Amino acid sequence: MLAIRLVSGSTRPDALVLPIRPGGSDAPPALVPTAVPPGDDVRAEATALLPAARLTGAAGEIREHLRPGGAPSRLWLLGVGDGDEAGWRSAGAALARAGKDETQITISVPGGSESALRGLAEGLLLGSYRFRLTEAGARPALARVDVLVTDPDALADTLAAARVTAEMTRLARDLTNTPSSTKHPAWFADQVAGAAADRPDLHLRVRGPEELSAEGFGGILAVGGGSVQGPRLVELDWRPAGARTHVVLVGKGITFDTGGISIKPVPAMKLMRKDMAGAAAVVAATLGAAALRLPVRITTLAPLAENMVSGSAFRPGDVIRHYGGLTSESTNSDAEGRLVLADAMAYAVRELKPDLLVDLATLTGANAVALGKRHAALYAENDDLAADLLAAMTAAGEWAWRMPLADDYLEYLASDVADLHSSPARGAGSVVAALFLREFTGDLRDRWAHLDMSAPSWSDDVHGELTRGATGWGVRGLLRWLATLG
Ligand code: BES
Ligand code: MN
Ligand code: ZN
Repeated sequence: MLAIRLVSGSTRPDALVLPIRPGGSDAPPALVPTAVPPGDDVRAEATALLPAARLTGAAGEIREHLRPGGAPSRLWLLGVGDGDEAGWRSAGAALARAGKDETQITISVPGGSESALRGLAEGLLLGSYRFRLTEAGARPALARVDVLVTDPDALADTLAAARVTAEMTRLARDLTNTPSSTKHPAWFADQVAGAAADRPDLHLRVRGPEELSAEGFGGILAVGGGSVQGPRLVELDWRPAGARTHVVLVGKGITFDTGGISIKPVPAMKLMRKDMAGAAAVVAATLGAAALRLPVRITTLAPLAENMVSGSAFRPGDVIRHYGGLTSESTNSDAEGRLVLADAMAYAVRELKPDLLVDLATLTGANAVALGKRHAALYAENDDLAADLLAAMTAAGEWAWRMPLADDYLEYLASDVADLHSSPARGAGSVVAALFLREFTGDLRDRWAHLDMSAPSWSDDVHGELTRGATGWGVRGLLRWLATLG
């Protein structure tokens, strides 16, 4: 991973990046005042260049200017827009890409601006992310960025937090991009064990098929029953001394979703290795919270199963008995996510009794139909919880949009043979899935939030800090939100 260092002093680096911002109506962009100013000659030259460079100062715009024999010998003008965290995040990602053939770059930033540094660092570390199983054909990438500041010590914590956030987002991307031939449920659980191994303050329990069966996790067992790779339930606990709030995070961990007996057509199945992006996000956020020593107790549950087609797969029309005893009738084995989540949520409510319950899931294609590519659908009864989550996610650069838990559709969940019908195909797909999950929240109904993040879990194109493929959606927003709880 790209190294970012805070450096003081006014050395003359070889490659120097100067931030610029829009100049206002018709005016050319202007240099942003920085903590460590460039030499007068460099500043004068950059200022003179600006009108000619056809830049606007928009976040992420970047232009290289060569100064043969000069010091610096390469000057980069980098748009940071309004100069807020989002502007710097886009700028950092653009710099990571434009500077990929450099080995080291130095950038000047405004004095005392923690949000600029945070945005820059996360943009650099996420924009430079790449997933490859082999290094054959790998190109050398930008190795180090030095950030010029007056007092490196004063910003060290900010940089460290940004680094943890980006590292954990990259971990979630790695897990989600990994082919399903590798990442069966036991493998995923092993990855969590590996990541938690050097932390005695993190507790991990992994249940296999036998324990799941003994304890009555019927949803996880039904969905996982069609695969030779048995299901798992990961329970990861971060329990700092003195924590007053206990949050349970639940993430959907379908390591591949064929649809089961209700098999998906080819186009719908091709990316279904990403169907564990929710589990990846909650695990990575919990590891991040532990690394940052956030003073909040977090228990993360990742129900892991592979939804396959086989003689042992569950069938449409089967009745499933979930953890805690509620039963559901499934007439479409492709609506598998809610079945594994229901078990984990019921377990959390009955056994862990947390203060707050949040689940993340690549739950429905309807998420993207309603909200497009980048917004998750947020469901919560509690307005304050919804507002807090939306604020944290927006600040972190992840988008969600609140959707209605419309009781009108409750009748869709009626079944003749079970307590609930889990897969009614009558429309309002994302809302109905949320209503189904709500039935498993017990007395946490008002302290639960559900994020259907099928759409933003994946990016088809390079966009700001997003690279092609898994986005790690949820890690940044969850960490931001968890940091507000005490
Ligand atoms: N994993 C899918 C949802 C999904 C679709 C995620 C596209 C990412 C991209 C989920 O298990 C599913 O198949 N949902 C069905 C539900 C339906 C059968 C009630 C859907 O959305 O079609
Ligand atoms: Mn499915
Ligand atoms: Zn699925």
